[in-house]
Amino acid sequence: MLQKMDEIFKDFTEKLQTLDKQADVLSLKASVLGKNGSLAEILKSLRDATVEQRKEIGPKSNAIKQDIEKLVFNKLQEIEINEVNEKLSKNKIDFSLVDSVLDKGLQAAGLHPVSQIQREIEDIFISMGFDVLDGPHIEDEFHNFEALNIPDTHPARDMQDTFWFKDMKHLLRTHTSTIQVRGMESRKPPFKFVGPGKVFRCERTDATHEMCFHQLEGMMVGKNITVGNLIYFMKTLLKEIFKKDMEVRLRPGYFPFVEPGFELDIRWKKPGKGESKHSGWLELLPCGMVHPNVLRAGGIDPEEYNGFAFGLGLDRLVMVKYMIEDIRHLHSGDLRFNKQFKAY
Ligand code: DAH
Repeated sequence: MLQKMDEIFKDFTEKLQTLDKQADVLSLKASVLGKNGSLAEILKSLRDATVEQRKEIGPKSNAIKQDIEKLVFNKLQEIEINEVNEKLSKNKIDFSLVDSVLDKGLQAAGLHPVSQIQREIEDIFISMGFDVLDGPHIEDEFHNFEALNIPDTHPARDMQDTFWFKDMKHLLRTHTSTIQVRGMESRKPPFKFVGPGKVFRCERTDATHEMCFHQLEGMMVGKNITVGNLIYFMKTLLKEIFKKDMEVRLRPGYFPFVEPGFELDIRWKKPGKGESKHSGWLELLPCGMVHPNVLRAGGIDPEEYNGFAFGLGLDRLVMVKYMIEDIRHLHSGDLRFNKQFKAY
C-alpha cells in the first residue's frame, strides 16, 4: 500500500509539471485528494490493514496530502505570475507620454498661500521663543465664550454668528482665542505661544466674509508685561512678513477678553496706485492686555501675572500681501488662482 501511495504521488508531480491552467491544477488535485480521489480509495482499504500497517500508512498519507497541498499552492501562484507577466508584456507602459507632459510644462505643486503665510509666521514666532499650539475645531461654550469673559448676553453668542450643534452646548469655534484658554490650561506662566487654525462663522459670504477662515492667536503671560512688549512683537512680526519696517498705530478697540483692547493698524500704500483710497491706515491686528477674568478662568493669578494677546486674520493678511480683492478666491479651488502661488 505504501508503494502504491508513492506511485500516486509520483504520478501527481509528473502531471502537475505539464499543466499551465489553474482549473486543470485544481481538478488534478481533486483527482487525488478529493472524496473519490485515488488517495481516498487507498485509505478506504485501511479497514483491512493490520495495526502495524495502519501506524505506517496514516502518517504517510498525511505527509503526502500536505506535500500535494503545498505543490498545488505554489503551482497556482506560478501560473498567476506568468499570466500577469504576459499581460504586462502585451500592454507595455508608454514612457513617451512623460515627454509630452514635460513639453507642455510640468505642473509644480505648491502650498496654498494661507498655509504658506501660516508657516512663515509660525517660524517667525518660533525664532522668538514662542510655542505653536493647536486646538479642536469643535469646542464647548466654556472655551469659546465663558473663559474668554464673553457673557451669555454678548452678541457674539448670537445664533447668527455661531454654528451650534443640536445640543446647544457644542459649537464650531468662532475664533482661535479658544487656544488661549487651552494654552493656559496646559502650562504654567511664564509662557508665550501662538495657535493658528480654521475658524467658523455663520455669515453671509461676500468679498470680505467667508464662513470658514483662518486666524493665528498669540498669547504671552509673565510678570510685568507691558503694551511696549506687545508693540515690539507685533512690529517684529510685520517687519518679517513685509520685509521692511512698518509704521503702526494703536487705536482703542473693544474685545471682552482684553483690557485695554486695541486695533493695530499699519500704514499701507497699495503699490503703484499713488496716494488714493488704497493708501492710508489699514486695520490689521486686534490685540490687547489679557483681561484679569481670562487669566483667572485659566487658573492664573492676575495679581501675580499679566500678559498680552492678539488675533491675526491670516486670510486678510494674504489678501493685503498679494492684493487679492475677494476672499472667496482663496477657497474657490480655482487652479488659475492657485497656480499664481509658487511652490514653497
Ligand atoms: N478673537 C477675536 C476675533 O475673532 C480677535 C482677537 C481680538 C483676538 C483681540 C485677541 C485679541 O487675542 O486680543 O474677532
